Amino acid sequence: MRITSGQAPAALPGDLDLADPHYFGTGDPHPVWTHLRGADPVHRQCPMAGRPEFWAVTRHADVSRVLSRHEEFTAARGNILTTLGHEDIAGGQMIAVTDPPRHRRLKDPLTPHLSSQAVRAFEPALRDLARRLLAVGATTETWDFAAQAMYYPIAIAGLLLGIPESGWEHLKHYTYAAVAESDPDYAPADAGTASVLSRAHSEIFLYFAAEVAKPGREQADDLIGSLLRAAPDGVPLTRQEVILNAYSLLIGATVTTSHAASAGLLALLENPAEYTHWMTTGDTEAAVEEILRWSSPANHALRHTVAEVRLGDTVLGAGAPVTAWIGSANRDERVFADPFRFRVNRFPNRHIAFGVGAHRCVGANLARLALTVLFEELARAFEKIEPAREPRHLHSTFIAGIKSLPVRTVLRAQAADLRGMSPLGGTAEGAQ
Ligand code: HEM
Repeated sequence: MRITSGQAPAALPGDLDLADPHYFGTGDPHPVWTHLRGADPVHRQCPMAGRPEFWAVTRHADVSRVLSRHEEFTAARGNILTTLGHEDIAGGQMIAVTDPPRHRRLKDPLTPHLSSQAVRAFEPALRDLARRLLAVGATTETWDFAAQAMYYPIAIAGLLLGIPESGWEHLKHYTYAAVAESDPDYAPADAGTASVLSRAHSEIFLYFAAEVAKPGREQADDLIGSLLRAAPDGVPLTRQEVILNAYSLLIGATVTTSHAASAGLLALLENPAEYTHWMTTGDTEAAVEEILRWSSPANHALRHTVAEVRLGDTVLGAGAPVTAWIGSANRDERVFADPFRFRVNRFPNRHIAFGVGAHRCVGANLARLALTVLFEELARAFEKIEPAREPRHLHSTFIAGIKSLPVRTVLRAQAADLRGMSPLGGTAEGAQ
């Protein structure tokens, strides 16, 4: 998804289809969102390509309300557009598609392991992974940052879920396919999107089913072990719940973090004054907040109305699907001054890239730390970085992603030790 100035068109394109993944791969929804925020904040997306109608909210206040008021807007019927029109079979069993109070049963076993204090323990391992991500740039002048970055979160998920390095490539492929089933890189020309999705789901479920079945797995000091040991209110999680929630953690961790990294680097390269400002102040944490706002990798979330509800001037009937566009909320001119300016020291920065309410991202602390460490290591490694070719974007309604970002880099003399590190994704894919 390209990010432009967001200049609103006078009228919407007649064939606008907010559920078309290719629109997000090749187009730029920002001008449309700007138009919708101003003129049609509760927009009815008419049925297109056999998909039922749904509503689209684009303002920060409306997106926040839809995501946080689970009494009015349920996640149990699916939380992404690909589930539209059919019930989500994981509803009530998987954290992202379970409403409170049952939701606590699934979230409580995870939160202590992902608190801001707890994730500090991962910092040395994250730094090592970040340096391995950048290692290709130590031996190759022109390389694909995005292709390497895709290995970073799968490696981080590996730390959390006990996935060995030998399993990264396989799970990485199916994890990205699970959120970009229409992207030409994941969907062979002869495969329908449904078959790409079901293959991706079953490969990931099979992996975790085998993990959960291993004798003594509940003793492991990772999140799968923790889910297996958990017994909220005295009732242990079922095997099915453990597998579904391992899946949720894998998807949540993987597809978002790498795209924030690539979109963040692209924004820094496109705004050299901001790059210089960041290097001068060294305030990477603030820069990461702006990167999260700017990239908004989780592009939308879906909910269904529980009963008839009024949103602004519009009354929605019971059971109506509502999409909350996080990428738009994070550009809302009612909340952000000069929202289409990338400013590494933006303050205040009330972005909602991690969502709001009960479903707010459980991995937010880890994601923040992983991105901070990565950009700190990037600054340390290279004295010069410049774009080498046009980026390529992911075809997905759910993830605003970059799958290719070729860069040219000049290594700092004091970072020569990166040459001895084994690149996260091997050299073949990363080199150009
Ligand atoms: C830049 C990185 C990330 C972004 C932008 C992001 C964004 C989000 C958003 C917007 C939601 C809420 C979805 C909704 O309301 O339906 C969410 C939920 C979730 N995220 Fe993340 N996420 C990131 C990283 C992570 C990481 C590293 C993990 C794993 C450790 C993770 C695991 C999850 C899970 C399990 C949920 C469901 C939480 C719930 O339903 O209570 N995410 N994430």
